[in-house]
Amino acid sequence: MNLGKISYGGDWNPEQWDRAVWDEDVRLFKEAGIDFLSINIFAWTLLQPSEDTFDFSQLDEIFALLHANNIKICLATSTAAHPAWMATKYPDILRVDHQGRKRKFGDRHNSCPSSSAYATFAPKLATALATRYQNHPALELWHISNEFGGSCYCENCEKRFRVWLQQQYITLEALNTAWNATFWSQIITDWNEIVVPNQLSVQWSDRGTAMQGLALDFMRFNSENILGMYNLEYDAIKAIIPEAMITTNMMGMYRPLNYRKWAKRIDVIAWDSYPSPNHSAAQTALAHDLMRSLKDGQPFLLMEQTPSQTNWQPYNALKRPGVMRLQSWQAVAHGADAIMFFQMRRSIGAGEKFHGAVIEHSGRSDTRVFQEVAALGRELQQLGNKIIGSRIQSDVAIWFDWESWWAVENSLGPSAGLHYTEEIAKYHTAFHDANISVDMIGPDSSLDQYKILVAPVLYLLQPGVNERIKTFVDNGGTLVTSFLSGVADQNDRVFPGGPPGLLRETLGLWVEEIDALPPEQHNTMLVQNAFGSRSNYEYTCNLLFAIVRLETAETIATYGQDFYAGTPVLTRNQFGAGQAWFVASSPDSNFLNDFVQHLCRENNVQPVMQGVPTGVKVTKRSKDGHDYYFILNHTSSTQTMPLEKPMRDLLSGQTFTGSLKIEARGVLVAEAI
Ligand code: GLA
Ligand code: ZN
Repeated sequence: MNLGKISYGGDWNPEQWDRAVWDEDVRLFKEAGIDFLSINIFAWTLLQPSEDTFDFSQLDEIFALLHANNIKICLATSTAAHPAWMATKYPDILRVDHQGRKRKFGDRHNSCPSSSAYATFAPKLATALATRYQNHPALELWHISNEFGGSCYCENCEKRFRVWLQQQYITLEALNTAWNATFWSQIITDWNEIVVPNQLSVQWSDRGTAMQGLALDFMRFNSENILGMYNLEYDAIKAIIPEAMITTNMMGMYRPLNYRKWAKRIDVIAWDSYPSPNHSAAQTALAHDLMRSLKDGQPFLLMEQTPSQTNWQPYNALKRPGVMRLQSWQAVAHGADAIMFFQMRRSIGAGEKFHGAVIEHSGRSDTRVFQEVAALGRELQQLGNKIIGSRIQSDVAIWFDWESWWAVENSLGPSAGLHYTEEIAKYHTAFHDANISVDMIGPDSSLDQYKILVAPVLYLLQPGVNERIKTFVDNGGTLVTSFLSGVADQNDRVFPGGPPGLLRETLGLWVEEIDALPPEQHNTMLVQNAFGSRSNYEYTCNLLFAIVRLETAETIATYGQDFYAGTPVLTRNQFGAGQAWFVASSPDSNFLNDFVQHLCRENNVQPVMQGVPTGVKVTKRSKDGHDYYFILNHTSSTQTMPLEKPMRDLLSGQTFTGSLKIEARGVLVAEAI
């Protein structure tokens, strides 16, 4: 997919409006430089008003109108909300929720992934759409359903789960062993005894489960089962249009779906970014980095963002002037080739009438939001195809594994304050703030290109992972891991000998105990002579405190307090040609910033640019031997920074020598001259 420039548009729902409004919308789209629209997102009942009737007349008109106006189409398949008649006639399409309640018709994203009605009707609609529009010149991309997610606990899902387990384990003996089922007399004696894990069975209402192995396997199954819904349509479309480009919109760090597995079935990654106003720039960047890394760095689409405000947060602050532009360029800076909004025109009724849109209820173009959208549209036109397809190169990778996330947060203890994504984010933020590019990788990624691999809370080790990490370090790589790493095998059974399990040799230590204190209780980390110029450093840490016993590792920092004062909190082990670090607690940001600097110095990892002021972020995308620097000022004041070589800003045409100035919330897309 390449429109010759960064694609620009969003979700457009003309079916909610009279024809006269469509024409006005298209006029406004031209004014704003909009050239790419997602359509047909929630139109199933209009397209198929009854079981045997299809009606594409309105969609035909929408296609024709957009094509006549040179706007390209991202065609959604409309299957994210099933028709009322379907729910009435085929109630197996309705989900059963976590409390065990059978749902009724009314919400969206509500079809049961094991429903035979869904498996009939969804691909049938996709087939009909593909047949009808396969040769349409405006059609660029397919958008299956919308924000797949959630889980279902109905009897059909339960039956499928049993079959899935049977395929995995073959025998009940193997399953009972994997689930450690002698605990609490949980031994399964017939496949039909297996239950789905909701609050009627093994799940406790807030955190934790009575059957870890079962709960973990269900999360794997559910992610695959929902991917099966996507596959029904994907296969239907490809059967008619083998070269079709197909996507679905993901949600960043979304726990129920293992997007790494999904990515293999998605032609181009697309995701919806809705940072809340108190999110840091780094938090948003992390999600972009994760999404970009799902397909080895291939550019992705920012499929949705609000131009102004959401309606689903408790307090829906407006994006301040300049913030939408800044966040749009931030997506591009981290690898996006499309900038899109939810939504193009604000609906007048139903659930999202308070959600921001490019065209507001006033219907006018002389609004702040529309003018900001139009200004960005002009910038994108002017930039043309310069950065399309360009790539980001990273020496650093952070390990982000859905299965570790699932398993560690399914566990009751050791700490309710432990959130997998927060531990990941802490490390990512330190690299981000140092302007060092990071890829977010996982169990199936290659480690070859990286100098540093950071794997916080590497809790669960799938078969083969330990060997790959070991080889990485042995060959000269630097590994950083933390407390609660190497704890469990793929079934969430603790390795004999305790943590860090299979990582013991690489890390050169074993963990004797792990203390868990309320988040407001801190310990100190005393570092001596390790991080360069200053001789002694004191940092704080909290949450979890592994008490370790060294084998071959050396102590770099010690705890300052409590009965384990003086024991190691940071260790380093020389292993083969590389080094493996263990961070025994959850450190403060000062530690992480200094630690990252140290690691990068030692491994010759360079920031994208030198001398970048705090709050300004720089990334680089490269193509055909050209480097493009994205310089983003996330602060609310003008910043200046030194320049090693003269540069030109491709957005303003301005050139800079010696230093550059960037206004509050400003953006430069610069190349060396
Ligand atoms: C999601 C959905 C959209 C819309 C927005 C609102 O991303 O995909 O349909 O509901 O949220 O923020
Ligand atoms: Zn179900």
